[in-house]
Amino acid sequence: RTIVVSGIQPSGELHLGNYFGAIRQHIELHQQYESYFFIVNYHALTTIADREALRRYTFEAALTYLALGFDPQKAALFVQSDVPEVTELAWIFYNLIPVSTLEKGVAYKDKVAQGLPANAGLLNYPVLQAADILIYGGTLVPVGADQKQNIEICRDVAQRFNRTFCAPDQPLFPLPEPLIREEVAVVPGIDGRKMSKSYGNTIGIFDEGKTLRKKVMAIVTDSTPLEAPKDPERCNVFALIKLFADEATRSRIADAYRQGGYGYGEAKKELIRLIEAHFAEARERRRALLRHPDYVMDVLREGGRKARQRAQEIMEQVRELVGLNYTT
Ligand code: TYM
Repeated sequence: RTIVVSGIQPSGELHLGNYFGAIRQHIELHQQYESYFFIVNYHALTTIADREALRRYTFEAALTYLALGFDPQKAALFVQSDVPEVTELAWIFYNLIPVSTLEKGVAYKDKVAQGLPANAGLLNYPVLQAADILIYGGTLVPVGADQKQNIEICRDVAQRFNRTFCAPDQPLFPLPEPLIREEVAVVPGIDGRKMSKSYGNTIGIFDEGKTLRKKVMAIVTDSTPLEAPKDPERCNVFALIKLFADEATRSRIADAYRQGGYGYGEAKKELIRLIEAHFAEARERRRALLRHPDYVMDVLREGGRKARQRAQEIMEQVRELVGLNYTT
């Protein structure tokens, strides 16, 4: 049985990388499979210590899913902390995984390499993520390429738990598979590096008007003169155009690049039009939802209730297997 799970951090505005790398697949998959999508506010605490910002980003993430077509009748969308059992499971997992594995975590390593202080939350981040996935019995995790390592750690944790506490023919946790779509595994940002909140190179899903124009115009290109032929495959603007354009538009623009006489400015204008058209409907829906914040809260509450029920069932078994249900 396929169970789809994935999380997104409420640590800033959601951007095109989040959309193409993850959210779009979530919206597709939840129509068909039992799915759990969570807004990981515990994880966001590794970088945010601002109650109001955390609340705002959490709400905005929920709005984004609903605006993009998430149907609360079909699956659960919820806030991670509404299932506090994940932290209990994470604690159990901590005891199965060597610190040396976690020290190889990319997010942790990067921070340390930059000479920045890393808190214990950041080091242990992948363990909580493993709990997020395994507590719902997740089997399929649609994510961007940057999450590959975390899913590997999750598989490692699941195996260690099964080996340590379960009968060989009765593993509790299935080993989840990452679902990383090749074409969108790494969406580039304004400066050509991976689009990421921490690089400040993002284009927001709902950016429009002046903000959108400013960001797109800032996309880094080389200095090939307007008349000269250009290689679309080496251009950051085209990399984004490719994500939005249909086949015909894509090849028309690629041809224009190769012929020459087509400038990056023109390509950027095309990209703005594509972005605006792609999200036009979602933008309207978002505006409508903003007038009904209670509805958004109800969706989260109900999603959290469903998810927690499932989590508690698995935790019963975990506590039994580990030997924690001493008095019950
Ligand atoms: P986060 O919040 O950084 O990103 C959310 C999702 O967006 C994807 N993504 C990208 N994909 C392609 N190109 C990009 N430039 C890009 N930027 C972001 C991410 O890969 C991710 O799928 N650790 C996770 C959150 C998490 C989670 C989980 C995910 C917590 N628990 C359990 C899956 C399952 C994270 O920080 O995602």
